[in-house]
Amino acid sequence: MDFLEAMQHRFACKQYDRQRMLEELEIHTILEYGRLTPTSFGLELWSFHVVKSFQKKEALFHACFDQESVRTSAVTVAVLVRTAAFANPDGDLVHTRGKRFPDPLPVFIDDYRPYYEFLKSEGRLDCWLRSQGYLAIANMMTGSAAMGIQSCAIEGFDEKKVLRVLDANADQWQVSLLATFGYPAEQERPKIRESLDELVVYH
Ligand SMILES: Cc1cc2nc3c(=O)[nH]c(=O)nc-3n(C[C@H](O)[C@H](O)[C@H](O)COP(=O)(O)O)c2cc1C
Repeated sequence: MDFLEAMQHRFACKQYDRQRMLEELEIHTILEYGRLTPTSFGLELWSFHVVKSFQKKEALFHACFDQESVRTSAVTVAVLVRTAAFANPDGDLVHTRGKRFPDPLPVFIDDYRPYYEFLKSEGRLDCWLRSQGYLAIANMMTGSAAMGIQSCAIEGFDEKKVLRVLDANADQWQVSLLATFGYPAEQERPKIRESLDELVVYH
């Protein structure tokens, strides 16, 4: 399937075939789509939690307002992103990440610091961190559609409960977005979308 076809045939799946699990290679490939997703300044201040166990999925189902998509999924992935303190340009994590790039670390930090300070002054650090996860999930969703696997983004969740299910410390992590994956047990739904004429403004 090419990219456009995958986009056309992906739909928000609410019921999966519980008899058909995903192969390890399929899960690995979906995660690879997430891993290869770009992040702002290449910082990768995130972590992908893969929920396969029946018990954890059941707990996550309740943390996501009892959404069947979570309960019936072969796998649910939660993208957690670091809390704002970890984005500090003088912090260990930013230094660890920054050292991987071709320029010396001080060059990276000098480039990053003004943007960090700007986001901080605008109160946008958390929003900036969370928004990174949406790109990873989008790539995982389109990528999985290309393999015939359906998905649904899950924004309806109780953050504290999700963190508890995933044994993640709320001082260190926040929940960006979740997505469910599996083979569908329902018919593909047609796309309801505005036309480009309605949506696009050329300048
Ligand atoms: C960021 C985001 C969050 C979403 N959260 C939920 C959700 O919590 N539960 C749900 O059933 N669908 C959720 N959806 C699915 C949308 O309702 C669905 O993608 C949209 O209606 C378009 O339909 P389509 O994906 O079938 O084209 C979410 C979609 C996005 C992009």
